[in-house]
Parts: sequence; C-alpha cells; structure tokens
Amino acid sequence: MDSKFQVSLEKAALQHHLSREEIILLLRAQPGKEQNELFAMADRIRERYQGDEVHLRGIIEFSSYCRNDCHYCGLRCSNNNINRYRFSVEQLVNASCQAVELGYNTIVLQSGEDPWYDADSLSRLITEIKKKKNVAITLGIGERSKEEYRQLHQAGADRFLLKHETTDAELFNKLRPGTSSDKRMQCLRWLREIGYQVGSGNMVGLPGQTLESLADDILFLKELDVEMAGIGPFIPHSQTPLADVPNGDLQLTLNTLAVARLLLPYCHLPATTATGTLHPEGRQMALNCGANVIMPNVTPYDYRQLYQIYPNKAGSTDDPKQSLKKIVSIINQVGRKVSEGRGDTPKPSFQIKSQNSVFLNDKHSN
Ligand code: 5AD
Ligand code: SF4
Repeated sequence: MDSKFQVSLEKAALQHHLSREEIILLLRAQPGKEQNELFAMADRIRERYQGDEVHLRGIIEFSSYCRNDCHYCGLRCSNNNINRYRFSVEQLVNASCQAVELGYNTIVLQSGEDPWYDADSLSRLITEIKKKKNVAITLGIGERSKEEYRQLHQAGADRFLLKHETTDAELFNKLRPGTSSDKRMQCLRWLREIGYQVGSGNMVGLPGQTLESLADDILFLKELDVEMAGIGPFIPHSQTPLADVPNGDLQLTLNTLAVARLLLPYCHLPATTATGTLHPEGRQMALNCGANVIMPNVTPYDYRQLYQIYPNKAGSTDDPKQSLKKIVSIINQVGRKVSEGRGDTPKPSFQIKSQNSVFLNDKHSN
C-alpha cells in the first residue's frame, strides 16, 4: 500500500483533520487492502465515539408537492407524470402517532418544498405530536425564512435536515434552477444560529462532480460541525434531465462515508436508503464503514410509492411495520443493537471558526 495513504489514514484517525489533498488520497482508496484498511479504521472510530448502538429515525414523507425543479429529482415541479399527494394535518398527526406506537424516538417530517404548509399549521402539528410523547422532531422541508425556522424551533422542532447537496456552487446552481448555493449556506447558518441540531449532506456521483469537490463536501460538513450528515449515491430517475447519467459509484460512496467518519467522529452518519437501493447489502456495508443511523420509512403504505425521488427506493413496497422489522434485522446482521434513546448530540453554541472560511463567511447580512 502507498505509504502516503497509510500516513494520511493514521493522521485522520488520530487528529480527525486532513488537508484537501490528503482527503482526496483516501477517497481514491482501491478495493482490496486500501479499502479494507480505510473501512476498518472508520469502523473503529465509529465504535470508539458512537458505540455499537444504531439510532433509528422514522421518516414520514408527507407531501410530494415541490416548488423546485431540481434536475436530479423525480419530484421536480415540471414532472407531470406523477400523482402527487399531500397529508392533511390530521393525517400527519395519525402517521406520527403510528411512528410513536412503533417505538420511534425521532420522527423526521419530510416533504418537497411545499409552501401549502405554513409555519402556523406545522407549529400546531409539532405541538400535537409533542403532547403524545417527547420524541425528537426533525424537519426536512427545505428552504424557509429565518422567522419561520425560528417559529418552528420554538414550537418544539429539535432538528433540521437541509442537505447542501454539493459544495460546487456552479454545479448546485445549474442542477437546482431558481435556487442558489449562497442561499442554501445562509439557511444552514440560520438553522445553526437558531439552535437546531443541524443535518446536512451531499450526493455522490452527480454529473461533473469531482473528487476535489467531494473533499470540499467533507470539509464543509466539518466546518459547519453538523450533528448529522447524509451521504448517498445519486440514482437517476427516468423522468428527469439526468435520466441517462449513471448511478453514483457504490465504492466511492462508501469511501466518502468512511472518510467523513474519520473526520467527524461525533457526527451521526446514516446508512442511507439510497445506498440500500444501489445494492441489496448497501446499508450493511455502510454500517461497517462508519454509519450509526438508519432512517426507516414510516410513511403509510398507500403513499410511499408515490414519493419517488429516485426509482425503486429500498423499502417502498413495505408498510411501516415491515420496514422496521427489516431494518432491525439489518442491524442485527452486522452485530449491532438498536438504540433506545433519542440520539441527541448536545453541542456548544455555534461559532464560525475561521474568519477566512471558504464556505461560511456571511456575504448576506440579515
Ligand atoms: N438520487 C439520490 N438522491 C437524491 N435526492 C434527490 N434526488 C436524488 C436522486 N436522484 C436526495 C437529495 C435530497 C433528498 C431529499 O434526496 O439529497 O436532499
Ligand atoms: Fe424538491 Fe427536494 Fe426534489 Fe429538489 S430534491 S425537487 S427540492 S423534493
């Protein structure tokens, strides 16, 4: 094995810090000795900092309406070939109660960017759910104003998932017409300032994405000091402009996850559904190279096939009970156990660490 590779790997494990060049070296890990060592090291760091428990986050996809037109996503607003649905507040409370009854300690409320739900109705919903049980509530509803983010946090939302998707601003702006990388970064800063536990993350295998930009993704996640980072492969959807682009590479996705674990030892890293969609054992592989979270689908059966961000999503033909059973069996297969807690990550209040930060300097005063 290349001695530079070995040196970088050991440095990552000891210092949890690498230069962009060193990250790229690890991202290039080849199947065989290099990857085995990288994955074993990431697994060791996961065990040391996170233990053997795997946190479950029950995800409810409550609206497939989206005002955005992302080139990679089947829910893009110009896709007229899908049946869209939107839960009433009552349906959403019922689905959340089912998740609570199944034992979930975190509920993730996920949707396209759908302004139909205003901050008042979402706040009422959060209050209703919290009355039943003190579950952690994560929102994944896209970009909103700072005031709305604040209102939802005050209503009881604990966490917010907003993937940065890619740190390559040009690529971001091209693939997400009408939105901008700058605005995304601003939303992430707002979420931090307000006091959410913040989740972000990126796709692997977007057309035009380079190893340099993947390294920047990891450096960005580190700089933002995220509590969770979702790293998953791009999977083409036939009704999008990226229909003919190949899948993100499984090995590169796992390398990215493993390097993220080395550099972000305290961060929750899910074995993503996209990784499980790309390969039947994808989530087991992810759990063995750094992941410590799985997000089972709790969307009622009748709706989950309609939430097609990408095709053949793992678990899309199961109901909430079956999904849970399958995920528990995946966790047991790799010799780990399901966490019984909420899996919070207490953090000191956010500080921008470097005034010369590439990503987080506030170009927009608010
Ligand atoms: N393949 C993989 N992941 C995708 N997402 C959207 N479209 C795709 C795709 N084609 C991810 C994005 C988004 C999340 C909801 O789903 O990262 O943030
Ligand atoms: Fe909408 Fe999100 Fe899909 Fe973009 S990725 S079209 S914002 S659901």
